[in-house]
This record gives sequence, C-alpha cells and structure tokens, in this order.
Amino acid sequence: IAERAARRGARVTLIAGPVSLATPHGVTRRDVRSAAELRAALWAALGPDLSGADALVMSAAVADYRPAEASLEKLRRGSGTLKLELIPNPDLLAEVGHARRGTRPVLVGFALGTENDERAVASARTKLADKRVDFVIANHADESIGRDDIRALIVGARTCEPIERTDKRSAAERILDRLSAELATEQE
Ligand code: CTP
Repeated sequence: IAERAARRGARVTLIAGPVSLATPHGVTRRDVRSAAELRAALWAALGPDLSGADALVMSAAVADYRPAEASLEKLRRGSGTLKLELIPNPDLLAEVGHARRGTRPVLVGFALGTENDERAVASARTKLADKRVDFVIANHADESIGRDDIRALIVGARTCEPIERTDKRSAAERILDRLSAELATEQE
C-alpha cells in the first residue's frame, strides 16, 4: 500500500516493525520494535491534532498484550512451571479514532479472521464502530497469510465491496481507490 500510494504521488510515512523488506522508493520509513514505539511514531507522524496526514492505514498486527516484565538476562530453566504475566497494549487505531474530530484523517483498519464472510463482515462492523474508523479490510487467514495473493472485503458502515482473489499489489490498488474516493468527498 505504501509503495502504491507513493507511486500515486502521495507523501508516505511507513512505520515498520522489524522486517527485512526493502523500503519502497519515495517512502519515508520509521522503524519500531514495540507497540509503545509504534504509538510514539504514530503520534509524531500525525501530530497532536491529527493534521499531519490525510489518511492512516493501520495494517500493523499490533500485539494485544505485552509481558508485564522484560528480562535483560537470559531466563535460566527452572524445575517448575513458568508463568508469564501479560498486560494489555493500548489499541492504537482506536486511540486515533477517538481523538479524531470530523472526517480527517480517513482511517482504515485491517481485520484478520478465520470465520465465514458473513461473520467477518459483522465483526468488521463492530471494529468500525468501536475504533471509529471509516473502513476495515476483512480477510481470512487462509486467504492472506504467507501467500502472494489475497481475497478480502472492504467493509464500511453500510457498504461491503469484495476484492476477488488477486495479487497483493492489485489489492493495494483497490484499497487506495476506495481511500481516494473517500478523500474526494467533502471534508467536515
Ligand atoms: N490495532 C491497533 N492497536 C492494537 C491492536 C490492533 O491499532 N493494540 C489495529 C490493527 O492495526 C488493525 C486493527 O486494529 O488495523 C485490528 O484490530 P483487532 O481488534 O486487533 O483485530 P484482530 O487482531 O483482527 O482480531 P481480534 O478481534 O481477535 O483481536
């Protein structure tokens, strides 16, 4: 999406986790390693009043929980059970959604599931409402993870547009078409 948006002439900041992918041409990249770092980079890019971007696409698979304590040393094997305490991470997209006044930036989320389309749409609509985003790209794990192609649904509050199975670059173009249409509507 970042690469295709830059090709369309958008000024793109890509906030990336630890991946070995090349940075697309014309894209500014910020590297992060944790949800806390992602949060800081997100707010730095958007600005406190969210005026730093026209749109935010959150395809990041942010962990829902993090360990309560991190060890700088190697944890040696013990004889008993090892219990890790996990505490919830903030929902970053919801945070931005709740801070937004009006219709900018346009907010796009992703929802990965393993259920059928009907349930996926229902769960995407719940996410739309909870996180206050404009649309959610719902995709099935078997039809997206670890493959070069994808099938997905672009779910809005009252719309549902299928992206039939295609390569991920074409799917990115379809998502950007939807985003452009949203940006062309009058700003509140
Ligand atoms: N997201 C986020 N911050 C989190 C978790 C998720 O910003 N701490 C964003 C993701 O980038 C994505 C969307 O929210 O755009 C996914 O929402 P989530 O509720 O985590 O959905 P899933 O992981 O698909 O499913 P589940 O409801 O089971 O968590």
